[in-house]
Amino acid sequence: PTAQAQAPDASAPAEAVPGRPGIPASILNRSGPPPRPVPKVEAEAPPPPPVPVAEAIRNATLEEMHDQVLACEACGLCKGRRNAVFGHGGQPTRWLVVGEAPGEQEDRQGQPFVGRSGQLLDAMLSSVSMSRERDVFITNVIKCRPPGNRNPKPEEIAACSPYLMRQIALLKPERILVLGRFAAQTLLGTDATIGSLRGRIHQLKTDEGLEIPVVVSYHPAYLLRSPSEKARAWQDLRLAVARLG
Ligand code: URA
Repeated sequence: PTAQAQAPDASAPAEAVPGRPGIPASILNRSGPPPRPVPKVEAEAPPPPPVPVAEAIRNATLEEMHDQVLACEACGLCKGRRNAVFGHGGQPTRWLVVGEAPGEQEDRQGQPFVGRSGQLLDAMLSSVSMSRERDVFITNVIKCRPPGNRNPKPEEIAACSPYLMRQIALLKPERILVLGRFAAQTLLGTDATIGSLRGRIHQLKTDEGLEIPVVVSYHPAYLLRSPSEKARAWQDLRLAVARLG
């Protein structure tokens, strides 16, 4: 008989090896070229651990730090943001105004205090002849919007606050106006109430040896909800202006 290669009948059940049920003989008794060696996949070196923010910005200029903030992945907030908000304002800086964290509008536009709170802040500043463009630099403790405007978590504050401290060191403002309980407590390292922090000058001592006077006031978002407190906020602004001479 002539030997002819016969195509296996795909519809026929594969013949099982006696005593090895289920394994077709055509597989076990396979002849032909040995199986090709599996190509070695070089194990990828794990990425280097991220450099902590404080280390990464130690010698950064304001412009360099701006770019670092925009690309920052030091905490989980980077996953939900549209834009990180570095801050904005004039130099030399008379006042550094520090809020909590970007809200929805700030996240969209990449600029601090551009929503309704921002309009009120501008009006408050202009009532003491200060202008966002000319005299003040406005920023936040947290540079990315927490989802749903929730309170920032301790690890997010820890990851982000070196940016604020470096901004203070570089801008050397004459005065810091800190808005709201969260920002005041974070900057001053206290859990005292806003009521007890208002009405007096605090001194912020920086690692660079600067001592910067800090005035605490209400957050504009709170003033929008409680307009009767605007008179107290006005007193805070007068305090800030008076001590500057
Ligand atoms: N609230 C803040 O604390 N900061 C902003 O930039 C906007 C709203």
